[in-house]
Amino acid sequence: MDRHEAIVIVDYGSQYTQLIARRIREQRVFCTIVAPQDLSLRPELLDPSHTKGLIFSGGPASVYQPHAPLPDRRQLELGIPVLGICYGMQAIAKLLGGRVEASGTREYGRTVLTVTEPNGLFHDVKPRFTSWMSHGDSVKEPPAGFRVLAHTDNTPVAAIADPERHLYALQFHPEVAHTEEGEKILRNFLFRICGCRGDWTIQSFLEEAVATICRQVGKARVILGLSGGVDSSVAAVLLHRAIGRQLSCLFVDNGLLRRGERAQVDQTFRQHFHMDVRTVDAADQFLARLRGVEDPEEKRKRIGEAFVRVFEAEAGAMPDVEFLAQGTLYPDVIESRSAWGGPSATIKTHHNVGGLPKGMRLKLIEPLRDLFKDEVRELGKILGLPDEILFRHPFPGPGLAVRILGEVTPERLEMVREADARIVEEVQRAGLYQSLWQAFAVLLPVKTVGVMGDERTYEHAVAVRAVTSQDAMTADWAKLPPELLERMASRIISEVRGVNRVVYDISSKPPATIEWE
Ligand code: XMP
Repeated sequence: MDRHEAIVIVDYGSQYTQLIARRIREQRVFCTIVAPQDLSLRPELLDPSHTKGLIFSGGPASVYQPHAPLPDRRQLELGIPVLGICYGMQAIAKLLGGRVEASGTREYGRTVLTVTEPNGLFHDVKPRFTSWMSHGDSVKEPPAGFRVLAHTDNTPVAAIADPERHLYALQFHPEVAHTEEGEKILRNFLFRICGCRGDWTIQSFLEEAVATICRQVGKARVILGLSGGVDSSVAAVLLHRAIGRQLSCLFVDNGLLRRGERAQVDQTFRQHFHMDVRTVDAADQFLARLRGVEDPEEKRKRIGEAFVRVFEAEAGAMPDVEFLAQGTLYPDVIESRSAWGGPSATIKTHHNVGGLPKGMRLKLIEPLRDLFKDEVRELGKILGLPDEILFRHPFPGPGLAVRILGEVTPERLEMVREADARIVEEVQRAGLYQSLWQAFAVLLPVKTVGVMGDERTYEHAVAVRAVTSQDAMTADWAKLPPELLERMASRIISEVRGVNRVVYDISSKPPATIEWE
């Protein structure tokens, strides 16, 4: 991201922050989401030669709450155009001396907006259109120098601007599909106000990433935890393209893998790409650490620690290793921290972000941390990775451990692995694999009564989970054909020892999550 123009999105905790990023990437403008505190820690983020615009997102706070996260006033004085959205608008207004108050009633949902200044941000936008609102506070009086650009029945100050200072703010959410003219408004901000070119592509990302990696790494060695999933595979091939044999990949067989995974990694990376891949047999270590552990977060923590210990031990045996590379993506980064800097908004600790012990001696390198999953796949394709890897369903870092509810034991691992293989096979046979985000088995911690032949059985139940999703932030349960469900169930029950019942999970995310733990 060094040479390229970028929009910096400051995340004040809105559920829509990633959507803002998506909408901007769709315009072929590079953008990055940062936490408010990053702006003071990373000076390049406020360098106008790099940052063409700043967006302050919405968020759950009220500007009048004690310790409400507010931008630094100086960020508004750099000449970099700023767009505040919802909470971001209120924060700008409060900082510059406007009046923000609780609205009395919370405005939520679709609202018709009337534009009174049809230029700049609202250039070529319909005079009245439906906008998406979600706020309790609103700006009653804009700060000096600002003009009101639009209003709704309940919100007289729904959009403001001070074009001289390049400051803009909206009470509604242009990034949400329900806002009719949202795309146009964002385009106006990017191209008319910030002067972006809109020439960002994955190919340009690739070239810049290779240059950045070479510069960052120099002559040192990099070690990468290769899991065989899309993210670490693409990271591995990208790094290999940049630094060749300076990269050593460690494939940790932690005993929590899907069937056939180890063989595939071997074939693709060692045989096809001729990369330095070392396989570490660590199943016993992982299982020992997991013995007796039932709590999902505790499992994740122990697995994360076990990974790091294995890496450190292996890296210690290699000369000059300075970096640990990971295939961390945007959604991992975002879901694992909150705008308040605390754990309040952490839903699940994704081990590759949250679980790194403080004393770790290796420096981290995460070349994909600004990309979304579909962009990573596109990058992988350019780099020559086979579709089997690129379109493989996502698999959580802690592996099958979080698909066994309760304690992880070798017998339970075997059951969930074999059930999983049958679900995937049947989905592939039905030609549905690529249309699903994920399809997998979850081993439930209950035993149920059944009858097999003339015998009463008392064995485990397995849940089949299959979802459709764009980005894993939201997901729908997949409406699989009943015949397919039936085939899965009968194969699992007859072929997987220890299972006598199969149920289908029909919950969506939210309120459920995709994985059960
Ligand atoms: P949830 O269950 O939170 O999952 O809806 C969203 C996506 O993330 C994957 N996932 C994980 N990935 N470490 C990972 O690397 C984890 O601990 C983890 N937990 C969930 C999940 O498979 C889904 O695609």
